[in-house]
Amino acid sequence: MLKIEFKKSASIYDMVYAKRNYKEEVNYLDVIIKKYGIKRKLLDIACGTGKHISLFCKKGYSVKGVDISPDMIKVAKKNYPNIRFICCPIEELNREIKGWYEVITCLFNALGYITPNEVLSIVLNQAYLTLDEKGLFIFDFRNGIPYLKEHSPITYNENIIGKYKASKLSFHKIDELKDLTTSDNIFCVKKGSKIVKEIREIHNIRHFFPLDLEYMLYKAGFKKVIMFPWLKFTPLQSNDFQVTCIAIK
Ligand SMILES: C[S@@+](CC[C@H](N)C(=O)[O-])C[C@H]1O[C@@H](n2cnc3c(N)ncnc32)[C@H](O)[C@@H]1O
Repeated sequence: MLKIEFKKSASIYDMVYAKRNYKEEVNYLDVIIKKYGIKRKLLDIACGTGKHISLFCKKGYSVKGVDISPDMIKVAKKNYPNIRFICCPIEELNREIKGWYEVITCLFNALGYITPNEVLSIVLNQAYLTLDEKGLFIFDFRNGIPYLKEHSPITYNENIIGKYKASKLSFHKIDELKDLTTSDNIFCVKKGSKIVKEIREIHNIRHFFPLDLEYMLYKAGFKKVIMFPWLKFTPLQSNDFQVTCIAIK
């Protein structure tokens, strides 16, 4: 049975991550995509509420989104009624997605939600099979090298959106043998001093080591793997926390 981690928090996801700069991310990804040829047919897997997709769509890409969470898909469809979103686990991508894509994206640590090796190798293989010849699989991941040396056991962030304040308080516990962090998250939306919504959700997110991931991507069939620090084009350093990975079919 697959675990759906974004069930209760879907309705407030966009408020909690209101500060995230999706526009900057899509501009960066667009530069990467253009560097490897003119590619227009894009599938965003683990697309969440559809923010990246809508921006790709504005840039002229032909887009589709897939996510395991019916609640996230419901928000995505409401936000962007003209875009096609499909509710499906990415380990079963080929069941729902027919045809080939020139680019597959999987963003904001979303591949980290695929935690056991056996499922991860299925997902990488499904992405490979869904891509056109020379297609690109682009994702970001949490780099285990600096993360294990330096991480905060508690994190907190908040955003003010009009009359509302949305916050996320998280308690993190690392399982080093499983390359996994279990985060106990408390999401809260307040209007003035009144709590409008409070949600507790546990998320398991995997970190990856660049060489291990590169090996798994080659095993899935990809011919070339390139890594940069997230949102940069400089050579990857071991202490870069977030990594952009481009795997070419
Ligand atoms: C951190 S959110 C990122 C969402 C979106 N990519 C973004 O940047 O806002 C992770 C997403 O992965 C989805 N997800 C987790 N496991 C999944 C799976 N096995 N198949 C498809 N989607 C999955 C969750 O439902 C959630 O929407």
